[in-house]
Amino acid sequence: MLTPNKIVIVGAGRIAHHLGKRLRAKGLCVTQVLSRSAGPGQELAAELRSEWSDRWSDIHPDADWVLLAVRDDAIEEVGAALAPYAQAALVTHTSGATQGAVLEPYFKRSGVFYPLQSFSTERMPVWSKIPFCIDARSEADVVLLMKVAKIIGNLAYRVNDDQRSVLHVAAVFANNFANHCFAIAEKIMEEKGLPFELLHPLMEETLAKALQDSPARMQTGPAMRGDTDTIRRHLEGLEQHPAWRELYRGMSQSINPAVRLPAAKRQKKS
Ligand SMILES: NC(=O)c1ccc[n+]([C@@H]2O[C@H](COP(=O)([O-])OP(=O)(O)OC[C@H]3O[C@@H](n4cnc5c(N)ncnc54)[C@H](OP(=O)(O)O)[C@@H]3O)[C@@H](O)[C@H]2O)c1
Repeated sequence: MLTPNKIVIVGAGRIAHHLGKRLRAKGLCVTQVLSRSAGPGQELAAELRSEWSDRWSDIHPDADWVLLAVRDDAIEEVGAALAPYAQAALVTHTSGATQGAVLEPYFKRSGVFYPLQSFSTERMPVWSKIPFCIDARSEADVVLLMKVAKIIGNLAYRVNDDQRSVLHVAAVFANNFANHCFAIAEKIMEEKGLPFELLHPLMEETLAKALQDSPARMQTGPAMRGDTDTIRRHLEGLEQHPAWRELYRGMSQSINPAVRLPAAKRQKKS
């Protein structure tokens, strides 16, 4: 088989929309969308010019690739429900946090097709820069998925279950936690009536430097310098935000384990 030509997408959320549209734009044929909710499912099917159903038993029996784009905790349940009707197809999920092995009891051919990027409805993905982390039980299916990844993107890597779970933890730090730090910075600025835009050049420089060299080597700031007076003043300034204070303390300690921090304040009993 050169490329899959009867693709079924299960789910109609962000990944289903983005991958579905990209597959179609690159000439790969999504013949069916299956989703439990009619609204988003029918909308996606119309965009992809494909059929739609909310019954798992309606899955096209000659589907050659079933792409499960459902919430992590629904992957196994949906896989089990589809299993009696999709035994010939390659069935993959798109999750970085879920073992590929969860699909093995249900299908002869299974794997993972995980795009390592944060997708949201509002932003168009830059496909050429998205690494696809791929795994499958047979070499032939790995080759097939690599080929699809190269068609719709540019970067394809074989990553097994153990590697992917570690990769996902790293991705949470690099994306979710880094973004949360930006969100805290935004709130702190807002509380003092300062425009968040003031920090934009600094944020851009942070990323540019982290991409240029090891972020550990690029680290600056009071914790790195061991500047305990500044750290104490910062912690006092965060008195109204105990959760941010704890984050500040934990981050400082992680940046420089030798840094001396003021003793943590005890929580008042109510
Ligand atoms: N978004 C990202 O940035 C991203 C990046 C890489 C990988 N992924 C992976 O892609 C997968 C989908 O994520 P997403 O961001 O597209 O999620 P999403 O936008 O929240 O969409 C989730 C989809 O799963 C369906 N679903 C949830 N529970 C279900 C169940 N019990 N039975 C059947 N369908 C169910 C939802 O249907 P309803 O509308 O009916 O609830 C919806 O269509 C996840 O495995 C995620 O880890 C996401």
